[in-house]
This record gives sequence, C-alpha cells and structure tokens, in this order.
Amino acid sequence: MPSGSRPSPPAPPVALVTGASSGIGRGLAVRLAREGWAVGLAARREVRLEEVAGDIRDYDGVASVHVCDVSDPEQVRSAVAECRLALGPLDLLVANAGVGLRAPPEDLDAEEVERIFRVNFFGAVHAVEAVLPEMLRRRSGHLVAVASLAGFGGLPGRAAYSASKAAMIAFFESLRLDLAPRGVAVTVANPGFVRTEMTEKDDRPRPFIIDADPAVDRIVRAILARRPSVSFPWQVASAATLARSLPRRAYDILAKRVPG
Ligand SMILES: NC(=O)c1ccc[n+]([C@@H]2O[C@H](COP(=O)([O-])OP(=O)(O)OC[C@H]3O[C@@H](n4cnc5c(N)ncnc54)[C@H](OP(=O)(O)O)[C@@H]3O)[C@@H](O)[C@H]2O)c1
Repeated sequence: MPSGSRPSPPAPPVALVTGASSGIGRGLAVRLAREGWAVGLAARREVRLEEVAGDIRDYDGVASVHVCDVSDPEQVRSAVAECRLALGPLDLLVANAGVGLRAPPEDLDAEEVERIFRVNFFGAVHAVEAVLPEMLRRRSGHLVAVASLAGFGGLPGRAAYSASKAAMIAFFESLRLDLAPRGVAVTVANPGFVRTEMTEKDDRPRPFIIDADPAVDRIVRAILARRPSVSFPWQVASAATLARSLPRRAYDILAKRVPG
C-alpha cells in the first residue's frame, strides 16, 4: 500500500431478497440496506423494484434490480448471477416471494395447486439451488425462508397455500440440520396475518393482523441473531404451535375460527 493511503473500507455484506417489489419483501430489503447490506432486489415488476432501489439509494444504500419470475429456474439463476456480478458473493438469501390462494374444495384444480407450489415452494428451492454452492465453498452464508403460520396445519379454504408453506418449513428445517456444520445458517420466518397487497385483496376479518413494519422488525432481528425460526404475532403463533399437538377434533374447532 502506498504510504499515506488509507485501507479501503470492507465491502458490505450482500443480500438477495425475492419478492422485494412490495409488502414484507420490500420492507426487508429497505431495512437490510439500512443495516449496511448491499441488497439485490428480485421480483417480476421492474418499475416497483426500481422504486425500492431508489428509496435505498436515497439513504446512501446500495441496491441492484433483478427482474425474474421465481417459478422459472433459469430466470432465478440469471438473477443470482447478475446480483453476484453487481454486488459480489451472496451472504444472505431471503426467499420471500409468494402468492396466496383461497379456493373452496369444489374449485380444486391441480394446475392451480401446482402454480402455487411453483412460486411459493419451488421459487424458494430455485433460489437456494442458485446460491448454495458458493456459500458451501466459502463455508459461510445464511438462507432465510418467509413461510407462514398457515404452514403449521391445514386451514379452511387454503389447502394449496397451507401445503406450500408446510413444504417450505420442512424443506428449510432439513437444510438447517444439514448446513449448520458447514457454516451456512437457516432461518424460517412464520408470520400470521400482515397488512400487505396479499391481504388487501379482500376485506375478510384477519385475527391479530399486524402492519408490515413490525413484521419486518421481527424478521430482521431473527436474521441478525441467526435464529432458526421466528413466528409471530405471539397470540396466533402460540395457538398454531399448540394446535399442532392437539387431537384432530380439537384442532378442527380451532382451525375453523380462522376465516376461510
Ligand atoms: N401478508 C400476510 O398476511 C402473510 C402472512 C404469512 C406469510 N406471508 C408471506 O410473506 C411473503 C410476502 O408476501 P406479502 O404479504 O408481502 O405479499 P405481497 O405484498 O403481495 O408481496 C408478494 C411479493 O412476491 C412477489 N412475487 C409473487 N409472485 C412472484 C413470482 N412468480 N416471481 C417473483 N416474485 C413474485 C411479488 O412481486 P411481483 O408481483 O413484482 O413479482 C411481491 O414482491 C409471501 O411468501 C407470503 O406468503 C404473508
């Protein structure tokens, strides 16, 4: 180093957030950027992603935009490669992109169920597949799944959504066991109802619904502490946890209280 020159500051850690164009993903991306992460923003709506990137840059944060549909593995691989090129090796993946579906049993359509799984479950799997090899080589990294309390058990009217989130919880839990000794942490976040575009679509009652900001707070704290899981709000998380071990007849009474 030439005498008198200062060492350059360390590069910021790099995060990629899927579903960063709205709701919880948008909030997580902005908050992580304020915590000093360089953040790759992935989703389908480019204009919305550019707005989020603008918000981050307004606070001198670093962001890059990667338009992709997470249900397409090729698009996810390209988004991860672009993000790596723009920001550097990925330290954190937040697999958050997701879609809801409420459908009565008479409307059961296997193709629709598959579509939900392709986004909610395989979207996360595609992202993990794209980022994991380098994390394993570096023996460092963190995978975060935004699942749902709806994945703790089947809910009325939400067979496909609940099943996709249950699959996500089990998948990431297995990965946590496999990856812990290899330097890669895994966190599963299980929100209850959160006010976002997903819940704005209808005006059904949403017990203990919370705003996106406190949800983002809870998830970011769990990420920073590298906790294995975080479930909230406590009222619904406790009921959902208890419900897992109840006899099924008692479970039915509790589950039927969740609006379909
Ligand atoms: N809100 C709740 O009550 C609640 C509760 C528990 C869990 N969650 C979970 O939280 C996550 C975020 O949901 P949210 O509540 O923040 O809803 P949201 O505002 O509707 O956000 C969903 C995000 O996912 C993205 N997305 C959807 N399909 C995609 C695809 N095929 N490819 C890429 N991105 C896609 C959307 O972006 P584009 O449309 O631009 O692609 C958007 O950024 C979801 O996984 C959801 O299941 C939500």
